[in-house]
Amino acid sequence: MSALAFGQFPSYRPRRLRRTAALRRLVAETRLHAEQLVLPLFVRPGRKLRREVKAMPDVYQLSPDQLLMEATAAHQAGVPAVLLFGIPTQKDTRASGAYARRGIVQETVRLLKREIPSLLVITDVCLCEYMAHGHCGIVRQGPGGAQILNDPSLALLARTAVSHAEAGADIVAPSDMMDGRVQAIRAKLDAEGFADTPILSYAAKFASAFYGPFREAAESAPKFGDRRSYQMDNANAEEALREVALDLQEGADMVMVKPALPCLDLIYRVKTQFGYPTAAYSVSAEYAMVKAAAAKGWIDEKAVTLEALQAIRRAGADIIITYAAKQVAQWLRGQG
Ligand code: PBG
Repeated sequence: MSALAFGQFPSYRPRRLRRTAALRRLVAETRLHAEQLVLPLFVRPGRKLRREVKAMPDVYQLSPDQLLMEATAAHQAGVPAVLLFGIPTQKDTRASGAYARRGIVQETVRLLKREIPSLLVITDVCLCEYMAHGHCGIVRQGPGGAQILNDPSLALLARTAVSHAEAGADIVAPSDMMDGRVQAIRAKLDAEGFADTPILSYAAKFASAFYGPFREAAESAPKFGDRRSYQMDNANAEEALREVALDLQEGADMVMVKPALPCLDLIYRVKTQFGYPTAAYSVSAEYAMVKAAAAKGWIDEKAVTLEALQAIRRAGADIIITYAAKQVAQWLRGQG
């Protein structure tokens, strides 16, 4: 039945249910809970390091000891999960830091699982932070320019995911956008005794200018070229649905749409069409824009942030990854 088949003015007056805050809350169709939030964190080797990211106020590159404090505070505020990105001391052309047994992410996962066992630790599985050239796969220089090789990159990604699982990661999240990586990761996890480790795939990930501030935070900007040969073209929605279908067939347990606000249509379609747990990544520039405008006094940071996150929920996201997770959890509890 279409919505219009119900009440009609003057018997139906939508404003009746908007008269008080209590009424509005009672009939609210969408709720934002701290339990749905994931806080991304950047870790680099060292001690007592807190380097603020220029375009992301209140976001830092942290040494493990500081990251533990940050994760503890977020968890106490009600945030159930963190998403880890590593900044290694050395980069090379095989991304060896990505799958090193004692790599920065692996060591931080061990620390977090030992100190805060109830915190869910999600690891970003990618090669760009560990590659000297900053691309998400193995690069071959040819006469026609550089090529990002798909199939040879899969083994490195799978190895990275297993090393994270070995360290105790609760969920692995491949963000590289190589074809077939979910299958490769699932097969290797299963073969190595990690059949119970879930995969959250960055399934519909667009080549987006909204990742700009992140690349400074993760020190992962490509040294040449761009990511358009592997990340999705912003023009395409049907293709995003095929990407999601493919990742689910390959064994993804949860799927992600990224960025979030520019992709509300896809969050809605992915959730309604597939019905799987759906995450949305509210990326670095979504955060930076709000912070910048708020710093100028042009917008109300709290109101805009909550409205944007609620819109992402309304579109269908079950899980929201946001740099504002701790702050939002505090707002939702009426603190801060
Ligand atoms: C790694 C990765 C990126 C982001 C998450 N994982 C950067 C990229 O693809 O260039 C972006 C996150 C953000 O902007 O907040 N591949």
